[in-house]
Amino acid sequence: MDKTIAVVGLGYVGLPVAVAFAQKFKVIGFDIDEDRIKQLKQNYDQTCEVAEQALLDTTIHFTTKKDVLKQADVIIVAVPTPIDDHNTPDLTPLIHASKMIGEILQPGMIIVYESTVYPGATEEVCIPILEQQSNLKYNESFYVGYSPERINPGDKQHTFDTVKKVVSSNNPDIGKELAQLYEQVVTAGVYVAPAIKVAEAAKVIENTQRDINIALINELAVICKEMHIDTVEVLKAAKTKWNFLPFSPGLVGGHCIGVDPYYLTYKAQTIGYYPEVILAGRRINSNMAKYIVAQLVKLMIQRNIPVHGATVNIFGITFKENCPDLRNSQVFTIIKELKAYNMTLQIHDPVADKTLALSLCDIELLTETVMTPADIAIFAVGHDIYIDNKANYLELVKPTGIVCDIKSIFDVKDILKTQYLWRL
Ligand SMILES: NC(=O)c1ccc[n+]([C@@H]2O[C@H](COP(=O)([O-])OP(=O)(O)OC[C@H]3O[C@@H](n4cnc5c(N)ncnc54)[C@H](O)[C@@H]3O)[C@@H](O)[C@H]2O)c1
Repeated sequence: MDKTIAVVGLGYVGLPVAVAFAQKFKVIGFDIDEDRIKQLKQNYDQTCEVAEQALLDTTIHFTTKKDVLKQADVIIVAVPTPIDDHNTPDLTPLIHASKMIGEILQPGMIIVYESTVYPGATEEVCIPILEQQSNLKYNESFYVGYSPERINPGDKQHTFDTVKKVVSSNNPDIGKELAQLYEQVVTAGVYVAPAIKVAEAAKVIENTQRDINIALINELAVICKEMHIDTVEVLKAAKTKWNFLPFSPGLVGGHCIGVDPYYLTYKAQTIGYYPEVILAGRRINSNMAKYIVAQLVKLMIQRNIPVHGATVNIFGITFKENCPDLRNSQVFTIIKELKAYNMTLQIHDPVADKTLALSLCDIELLTETVMTPADIAIFAVGHDIYIDNKANYLELVKPTGIVCDIKSIFDVKDILKTQYLWRL
């Protein structure tokens, strides 16, 4: 095919999308972050989503120069859509990207937004900016589509090409054209949603559904804890029913599951509906880090471990397993709470980027070789390296210490009889 595809925003989503399209098309990879572009040109991806060899092999033209984008037939936008301190959507990167694209927009171009947004954002926010900046008319001189992204960083099974892709446009011909385009690179196939708003809403409900289901199981875990029932055993038993959904309790961080529901609740409130269930789920999940620390402190007092000056080893700081992403990691809340009790922490995470952890989060990551056994070991993230080397890491807990197993990676038999296994 002779089409040129540009991808704007080369992060966890944009880079794999660009690499996939580059196997069939001429691709321009644009980012405003000069360091990121420099690293990619040197075949290094700090998100660990694309291997060095794949970057060596790719023909992507990486650039920070917006004028290069004028050569594109289709521009895919994958910039971040975070929330602010008040849990309100922060559309700044999306607005900036739309302004920039509007400045270089050429007649006939198709702009496809992949960033997660609330239903209506593409039509209410992005398209008017594109029209204003370009002086071109939407659906006459340029076209817009929306294709929510389902990439799951750290997961080598559910990747860009192996998961069905939803595409949409309010112009049926463009919808068809986009379907044909994505079908070239998504082997799992494409589903054409009938309108942009439908595809936007489908994406936020996918993540909101997960958030609420995890909140339900977190609430169950809190109830079980009060009743001295082991939640892990309860879930094992319940999962034997054919239609029981296999969710587990835990921390919900990151920039998707803990963020996207707020996009939906924000929009709902602007149209006069106050969401009950979604916000209740968010509250439960947001409180889990503090709940865990409160439970640990209670347990320490019961087991005669002095709280002030206690030593704690933390294993895992990323927001999910096998992925270096630190955004909105709830482990930071755990660290902050433990420090407020004057505990001494040693923090370990071989998956996280050491330099970023220090510069962004002021966390010095240690290797296990310099760590000493602590009163408490908190296994916060289920990285494969912890699961595969359980016994080695358990040596970093004192014989009378507490193992706090947030991801339920241990079995009671893994722990010494003199130790205590606490899990959600
Ligand atoms: N990471 C995921 O797991 C995931 C999964 C599905 C959907 N999403 C959604 O995809 C979107 C992108 O997420 P991400 O995780 O890839 O973010 P990211 O932070 O990893 O990457 C975003 C990239 O965009 C660049 N950028 C920011 N502003 C820009 C601009 N104005 N112009 C050009 N580049 C700009 C940044 O420098 C960065 O490299 C978000 O809306 C997110 O919600 C993410």
